[in-house]
Amino acid sequence: MTRKNQTLGEFIIENQKDFPYASGELSRLINSIRLAAKMVNHEVNKAGLVDITGAVGETNVQGEDQQKLDVLANETFINTLTNREIVCGIASEENDEFITIKGQKNDHRNSYVVLMDPLDGSSNIDVNVSVGTIFSIYRRVTPAGTPVTIDDFLQPGNLQVAAGYIIYGTSTMLVYTTGNGVNGFTLNPALGTYYLSHPNMKFPKDGNIYSVNEGNYIHFPQGIKDYIKFCQEEKEDRPYTSRYIGSLVSDIHRNMIKGGVYLYPSTSKSPNGKLRLLYECNPMAFIAEQAGGKASDGFRRILDIKPTQLHERTPFVCGSINMVEKVESFMDNSK
Ligand code: AHG
Ligand code: MN
Ligand code: MN
Ligand code: MN
Repeated sequence: MTRKNQTLGEFIIENQKDFPYASGELSRLINSIRLAAKMVNHEVNKAGLVDITGAVGETNVQGEDQQKLDVLANETFINTLTNREIVCGIASEENDEFITIKGQKNDHRNSYVVLMDPLDGSSNIDVNVSVGTIFSIYRRVTPAGTPVTIDDFLQPGNLQVAAGYIIYGTSTMLVYTTGNGVNGFTLNPALGTYYLSHPNMKFPKDGNIYSVNEGNYIHFPQGIKDYIKFCQEEKEDRPYTSRYIGSLVSDIHRNMIKGGVYLYPSTSKSPNGKLRLLYECNPMAFIAEQAGGKASDGFRRILDIKPTQLHERTPFVCGSINMVEKVESFMDNSK
């Protein structure tokens, strides 16, 4: 049951029975994420006041310049999940390898692994524009009591048991699904409590917003170029509105509320696009589908892709179902 203005804590307890496997372990894990998100929120809000903006001077495994907040958010989530001994493994956009949680009371007996993008939209930090965190949760597939292996992380998105994001925006929200719809909670910063503000979120079936980094137009596949021209045509309810923040979390969040499509296609320079399948696309695809939307690589369902590498990338089209299907038809016609 969902009740508006319920706190996230109440919601987790009341809906625990609907969680897959209902042992309480997943509830505790989501509680830990809620706590880490509050800590990161506190840091993000101070950016500009204290010395936490700008680059660290290191390059991450993605080939990107790590920002101080990338590192801080990564450490906060890892430390919170590790200290609470709540997961058996963690993989992060910011770490070359997955982390095995050792020295637990119940050595390697926790059931879940977490995969995360600790800070999404890093390029927005220094200019005071919304950033986010994305998380994805699976049950381990290797036997309990043994250290996790890469197989626990390389699971297709359709096996996720929960996924969500935090948006550090005009207000801070935690939006998540456990496969039973999508609910959004807004943080009251004075009380440090999240309240259910957006129960049962749904992507409108159609929309009039397209979100894509059009600066890369020249490098896009023909089907995407054709779709962009379609969006700009003066016909029926078009031209559509173009909105692109450059933070996947914020772009998807807006489009889920207003109706729209997000595209990060392959380019002639990056045939697999830019976004990471495990930390960005799978969790967003799970949320999109749970909200009645759709996520595709232009041809196939994101959640059915069997990953082969931790930091694998994929082209990504996600949003209102009719808009995603329109993009797919343009991709098909250009084959
Ligand atoms: P991150 O900050 O976690 O590395 O993710 C950035 C991603 C995504 O959030 C965003 O939509 C996209 O990169 C923006 O890329 P471009 O600057 O190439 O448009
Ligand atoms: Mn990054
Ligand atoms: Mn990201
Ligand atoms: Mn990131």
